[in-house]
Amino acid sequence: MSFDVLIVGSGAAGLTAALNLAPHRKVAVIAKGSVSDGATGWAQGGIAAVLEEGDSFDAHVEDTMIAGAGLNDRAVVEHVVGAAPAAIARLVELGVPFAEEGGALHLTREGGHSHRRIVHVADATGWAVQQALEKAAAAQPNITLLPDMVAIDLITGHHAERFSTDGAVHGLYAYSRKTKRVETLTARATVLATGGAGRTYLYSTAPRGATGDGIAMAWRARCRVSNMEMMQFHPTCLYHLEVKNFLITEAVRGEGGQLKLPTTGERFMPRFDERAELAPRDVVARAIDHEIKRLGLDYVHLDISHREPEFVRAHFPNIYDKLLGLGIDITRDPIPVVPAQHYTCGGVVVDLDGRTDAPGLYAAGEVTESGLHGANRLASNSLLECLVFGEAAALHMLDHWNELPSLSPVRECDESRVTNSDEEVVIAQTWGEIRRFMWNYVGIVRTTKRLHRAKRRIDMLRGEVTEYYANFRVTADLIELRNLVEVADLIIRSALARRESRGLHYTRDFPKLLGEAKDTLLVP
Ligand code: FAD
Ligand code: SIN
Repeated sequence: MSFDVLIVGSGAAGLTAALNLAPHRKVAVIAKGSVSDGATGWAQGGIAAVLEEGDSFDAHVEDTMIAGAGLNDRAVVEHVVGAAPAAIARLVELGVPFAEEGGALHLTREGGHSHRRIVHVADATGWAVQQALEKAAAAQPNITLLPDMVAIDLITGHHAERFSTDGAVHGLYAYSRKTKRVETLTARATVLATGGAGRTYLYSTAPRGATGDGIAMAWRARCRVSNMEMMQFHPTCLYHLEVKNFLITEAVRGEGGQLKLPTTGERFMPRFDERAELAPRDVVARAIDHEIKRLGLDYVHLDISHREPEFVRAHFPNIYDKLLGLGIDITRDPIPVVPAQHYTCGGVVVDLDGRTDAPGLYAAGEVTESGLHGANRLASNSLLECLVFGEAAALHMLDHWNELPSLSPVRECDESRVTNSDEEVVIAQTWGEIRRFMWNYVGIVRTTKRLHRAKRRIDMLRGEVTEYYANFRVTADLIELRNLVEVADLIIRSALARRESRGLHYTRDFPKLLGEAKDTLLVP
C-alpha cells in the first residue's frame, strides 16, 4: 500500500497531523489496536492554556520551566504556551464540549500551575477530545484509518531495492492482526505519534499499548533520543487489588484534595513542600514514596470529603461512579492511592517542526522529546504538545513537499525463514521480568548500584529476545517485547549517564543539582 503520508498512531498527535494534512494529501493513520486505544482517550484532568484575566504567557512559561527543573528549551516552551489558546479554540470548533461557567470556559487547577488554566470536560477530557478528532477524521475522504496494524520497523534505504545509506525513511513494515501477515506501507513522509513507554514499568496509568514502539523504531532507524531517564510517576493512582491502573486526576488536589497518612490522618505534604499538595508531580510522588517506605504502608489517602458532595460529584463524575462501584464513596471516604508511572518525558529528538534526524520522518506527542517538558512535565501540558506539534509537522510537510525523499521501490518482508513459536511463554515471562526490575531498580528513587543491576539484566534479556525474534514469526506481543527491551535499555543508559538529581531523576548517589542543565542525548 502506498500513501502520501503515513501516520503511526491515532491519538491527539496523530489525528491532529492527519486533519491538517487531509485537505491536500492522502493520509493513512494506523493504530495497533482500535483507533481509540491510546492514552489520549484516558486523559482526565484537561489541557493547559492561558485564558484567564490575571494569568499570563510568562507565568505559564515559568511554571513549565520550574516543573521541568530548567531542563526545558525555553524557546520551545514559549512557542507552545503561545499557541495554546488557538489550539483550544480549534478543539471547540471540532465540538469538544469543554466545561463552562458564567459563559466562559471553566478553568480548573493542577499541581505546579500558579493560576487556574486547565480547560476540561469534567474528569474525562481525553475521551471527549479523542471522539471529536475521530469524528472529524472519519469525515475526511483523504484519511484512511487502519486499525489493528502494528508497525514493526521503519523502511530506510537499507530496505530499498537500490541499497542506500542516506538515512531517509520511506514508510514502514507493519503486522496486520487481521491477515496475520507483514504488510509493506510506503509514503513520502512518515509521522511517529505512537505515545509513551509506560508499560516498561510494573505499575503504570498508561494503556496496554504504551510500549515505546515509536522510540524504539526511531532509534533503530538511527535517530537520536533524549532524556529517557525522565520517567514521570503520577502521585495518585488508585490502590486497589483488582483495578490496577486507574488514575485519580491531579484536579482532585487542585480542587482541595489533601494527602493524609492512613495511620494517623496526618496531612503530610506541608512537611515536604510549601506548595503542599499542589507541588509539581515529582515532589509529591517522592514524598508519598518516602512515607510509604518509612512507615511500611501499602498506600496513602487522598481525601476530598470535606468539599460539598454536590461539588465533588459534578467535577469528578467518572471517578465518583467508578469508585462507588468499588465500595468507596469519595464524598465521604478517603481514596487509597499510590504513585505509578504516568508519562514518558524523554523520547525521539524533534525540532519545532516535528522533524527527526531522519529525512522524511516526523514525530509528535508523547513519543518525542521536543524540549517542552524538560526534567518533569507540568500537568496538562501533554495534550497541548500533541496538538501543537501534530499541526506543526503537517504544516512543515505541506510547505516542503518537494524536498521530501522521493519514493524508491522497497523489498517486501521475507518471512520464509521463520516458523511459528513453540514457546510463547518466553514472551510473557520476559515482559514480566522487565517491568518488575524497572519498577524496583529504575523507579522513583534510584542508586547507581541498582541501575547497574538493571543494566546487566536487560543486556541478558536483549540477547534472548533477539534470538527469539530472529527465529519465530512475529506477533503483536513479540513486536512489543522487542521494543520494550530497547526502550528499557535506553532508560537505564540515560539514568546511568546523569550524575545529578534533577526533576524526575532522583539518585541517592548524586543527590545534588549540577549548575548547568544538560540534556542526556543518546546517539545511535
Ligand atoms: P496516544 O494517545 O497514546 O496514541 C498512541 C497511538 O499510537 C495509538 O493509536 C496506538 O495504537 C498507536 N501505536 C503505538 N504503537 C504502535 C505501533 N507499533 N503500530 C501502530 N500503532 C501504534 N495529558 C494531559 O495533557 N492532560 C491530562 O489530563 C492527561 N491525563 C492523563 C491521564 C492518563 C490516565 C494518562 C495515561 C495520560 C494522561 N495524560 C494527560 C497524558 C496524555 O494523555 C498523553 O501524553 C497523550 O494523550 C499522548 O498522545 P499521543 O497522541 O502522543 O499518543
Ligand atoms: C491528571 O489528570 O492528573 C493527569 C494530568 C496530566 O497528566 O497532565
